[in-house]
Amino acid sequence: MRPMLAPLATLAAALGCAAAAASDLRGHGGPVGALAARDGAVLSGSFDTRAIVWDGENAVARRVLRFHDGSVTATAFLPDGGYATAGQDGRVAVWGPSGDAPLFATSEHQAPVSALSLSPDGETLAAASWDGRIQRIALATRAATLSEAHQGMAMGLAHLGDGRLVSVGSDLRLVIDADIGLDATVGLPALPNGVALSEGRFAVIFADGALRLFDEGGQTDERILSERPLIAVAARGDLVAAASVTGEVWILDNGDLSVRHAILPDQGPVWSLAFTDDALLTGGADGLVRSWDLASGEALGEGGGAVEMAFHDGSRGAEVWRSCALCHTLSPDGGERAGPTLHGVFGRRAGTVEGYDYSQALRGMDIVWDERTIAELFEYGPDAYTPGSRMPDQRVPSAEDREALVEFLSRVAR
Ligand code: HEC
Repeated sequence: MRPMLAPLATLAAALGCAAAAASDLRGHGGPVGALAARDGAVLSGSFDTRAIVWDGENAVARRVLRFHDGSVTATAFLPDGGYATAGQDGRVAVWGPSGDAPLFATSEHQAPVSALSLSPDGETLAAASWDGRIQRIALATRAATLSEAHQGMAMGLAHLGDGRLVSVGSDLRLVIDADIGLDATVGLPALPNGVALSEGRFAVIFADGALRLFDEGGQTDERILSERPLIAVAARGDLVAAASVTGEVWILDNGDLSVRHAILPDQGPVWSLAFTDDALLTGGADGLVRSWDLASGEALGEGGGAVEMAFHDGSRGAEVWRSCALCHTLSPDGGERAGPTLHGVFGRRAGTVEGYDYSQALRGMDIVWDERTIAELFEYGPDAYTPGSRMPDQRVPSAEDREALVEFLSRVAR
């Protein structure tokens, strides 16, 4: 069952108070890949395909936005109490302060959207996509224009104070883009994963574990934070925050990149970050949004997994299952995660759990799940075995592990 939440027509009235989220926000059924915060409200987006508008102060979900086919990858607050969401499906949706459906949506991109940014005058929403293009949407007229910004994936973007856009791409370029044509490009030393504007400089996170600051002339500062990729960045005032795929989070001074706080939220990979007035929000693989006091670095909420991560019976198969449990439950009542429940999966035709919103591709497939087909799914990976399905591509490379996984499932999923 999906939780029923009445749309709140008077959300705008509930805003206006600037306060930190005092407790963890629990409601997503999968990793939280997108976060935005403004005036006490929080807008999160998840692999579970939903975006949630929260009253951060009271830690209650005010509205659930369902539209995207696949995970929600970026969110932004708009003027006049509205919201924007963007997804793995390449679409950008613009929502009013109330209502069950977006006011309008664009589908200009052929690949997932990696970032959204609202112009300082509030008139233009920009989106960056893995198709290398940047879309500008004039909110008043709903007209969308596209520009080719990167040869490869556009991995992040942000508006400068003067309305120009800065974007970073897998072509190892940082591009400062006037309305037409490119003003400047700066070569990057590694693969960038995102950018945030920090007091006129650009804070860029990299797959080599470094946070680097740039201005229009080039790199001005660097701090190596991790040996593993950094996957989320946010900035506010004189602070920058970055998170690594290992789940560590750093809050740094933008001036000299000294580390103010190093935090280990215990949420698995931290996929998204946002600042409120006095807190940093972390969106994790555990489906939670947690908040951290900027002064002390302490947790403001209680923590603890909202997602029961695994059945622990000590077997190798249960260990392998842990990576699946982020997105799948084994409970008969369905649960609410990014993927369908695998309860009763043996003997079931692909794409047939009632009430789960499958991709068209999986729904149309003539596969019956059993020991052999589930093992093959993770031998070849979903992209090859079930092309067009929304399960992120992943494999279980060892034949022994696949056997253990299937043996485990055959015991607990029947
Ligand atoms: C990041 C999220 C995610 C992870 C991790 C994940 N899955 Fe999935 N899985 C999905 C989604 C989403 C679908 C539905 C795909 C669609 O609709 O195209 C799915 C579909 C499936 C299906 C088909 C179900 C049906 O009813 O047809 C099986 C079987 C499955 N997953 C098994 C697994 C196993 C086993 C693992 C771990 C090795 C795993 N998944 C890990 C998200 C995930």
